[in-house]
Order: sequence, then C-alpha cells, then structure tokens
Amino acid sequence: MDGLKGKVAIVTGGGKGIGRACTLALGREGASVVFADIDRAANRELLAMADEEGLAVQAVAADVADSGEAAQVVDHAAQTFRGVDILVNNVGIQPPSSYVNAVDTPEVLWDRIIDVNLKSFFLMSKFAIPEMRQRGGGVIVNMASVQGLQSMKKVPAYAASKGGILSLTRNLALDFATDNIRVLAICPGGVDTPLQQEAFEASGGDVAELRATLGQAHPLGRTAGPEEIANVLVFLVSDRASFMTGEYVCVDGGINARGTWDE
Ligand SMILES: NC(=O)c1ccc[n+]([C@@H]2O[C@H](COP(=O)([O-])OP(=O)(O)OC[C@H]3O[C@@H](n4cnc5c(N)ncnc54)[C@H](O)[C@@H]3O)[C@@H](O)[C@H]2O)c1
Repeated sequence: MDGLKGKVAIVTGGGKGIGRACTLALGREGASVVFADIDRAANRELLAMADEEGLAVQAVAADVADSGEAAQVVDHAAQTFRGVDILVNNVGIQPPSSYVNAVDTPEVLWDRIIDVNLKSFFLMSKFAIPEMRQRGGGVIVNMASVQGLQSMKKVPAYAASKGGILSLTRNLALDFATDNIRVLAICPGGVDTPLQQEAFEASGGDVAELRATLGQAHPLGRTAGPEEIANVLVFLVSDRASFMTGEYVCVDGGINARGTWDE
C-alpha cells in the first residue's frame, strides 16, 4: 500500500486508541508520520510496533493543549520530513470525573477538557496550515464524536468540545479552501479504546456487561475497533476524497440514525 507515499502526517493523541490506529494506518499507506502524545510509555510502545513493520513513524512527547509544545510538534514534522501535508487532530479526553452535570463540573475540569479537546485543534491547525500552504495544500481531519450532534446526559464539557470541533471544521474549510486545504471531521460512535475502558471501569459496573449494552445501542449491535475509524480516515485524507471539505462523516454503527421509536 503506498497511496500516501511522500506525504507527511501529524496525529495528535497518537499513542493509544484511535490515534494509534490512525498512525499505523497512515504509516502503512506509505506516509511519514509524527505522532504526539503526552504518555511517554504509550509512545515507546507504538514506536516499537511501527519499527517492527518498518514504518516511517516518529514520536514527540507533548501536551498539545500547550501552545509551545503544539508548535514543537509541527516544527519536528516540518524539519524531519520537510513539510506537513496531513493533520489528524485526534486527541481527546473524557475523564471519569467529568460525567456530571454543568452545576457539578469544576471550572478547572471544564477548562482542561476544552483546552485539550478543542483549543489544541485550533493550535495545531494554526501552526500546521502555513506548512501546508508551502506544500500547495493539505488535509485536516478532526476527531469529533456523535456527541457533537446529540448528547447523552452529564457530559457538558465533552459535548460542548465536540460541537465546537464541528463548527471549527466548517470554519477552517471555508477560510483555507483557496489554499487547497480540505478540512473534515469524523464522528465516531462507541470505539473500544483505553478511554472507553476507563469510563467503564470508573462507573463501578461490570465492564463486559457495560460494553455489551453500549454495543446494543448501535444498530450494528457492537462498538467499533479503532482500525474501523482509521480506515475511514485513510480515505478522507486521500485524493479519492478530493471534493470533500467542511463536513463530517459519522462512523457510528448507525447509532445516529436511530430514532426514539426504535426498540
Ligand atoms: N473511544 C470512543 O468511544 C470515542 C467515541 C467518539 C469519539 N472519540 C474521540 O476519539 C479521539 C480518540 O479517543 P480514544 O478513545 O482513542 O482516546 P484514548 O484515551 O484511548 O487515547 C487518547 C490519547 O490521547 C493522549 N492524550 C491525552 N491528552 C493529551 C494531551 N494533552 N496531549 C497529547 N496527548 C494527549 C492520551 O495519552 C492517549 O494516548 C478523542 O477525540 C475522542 O473524544 C472516541
């Protein structure tokens, strides 16, 4: 597979979960990939996996909600691989303590979720777009969620951050279309990742039962594997999606199509 040969990609929150699957998928398509993650152990683990497959993958340990560190990630890609063509703003947090209503959400927690889930998307785009312009174009894919479109109870900061990502996606698409930069979002449904596992464990219930129940909420009867999101990402960043910009794609097993009359 070499559909992305010669392309340079950045993936935020790339060390685990969906970001890890995206990093590997882009590398397998021939792209050079710089992934940024705050978790150094996860970085080492993924680097070893990528090395084993002979992929051109590098890690930068960074908190991408920090402006200086976000800039360093882009600099690293631009200097090591001489440019940036693809930015996957994937990072996202939903700490177990954040499953409370707005009244019970500490301001500091609200700020952190918005900084990581939304501000980092702005920062990374701000620094990567000038690099893309120099290459004559590029693609940004923002990892939103079905919760940017509909909300469960008690996730005010997370839901707000995901709605914000969809608005930012539309805005960036308009502002940079003439630079040949396409900007898209993916709205995953439930995906089996460490983030989801942590939420199940923190709820105190039976993890297998919780996973099965969440799976049943999806018309396909299960949650997704991270690679099922990465497969769609690979299409969106490829030239096969050349007329797509300013929109989102739900990769959600049909959960968003389900009406209240469904059983
Ligand atoms: N898992 C799901 O069910 C699901 C559903 C819809 C949307 N999403 C979204 O997909 C994206 C990936 O989610 P996931 O489930 O793979 O999460 P995850 O927690 O499994 O992985 C996220 C990665 O981001 C890293 N990270 C956290 N804060 C960071 C920071 N400040 N700077 C750099 N790295 C940081 C973590 O160390 C981790 O490796 C998120 O935006 C999430 O909101 C996930």
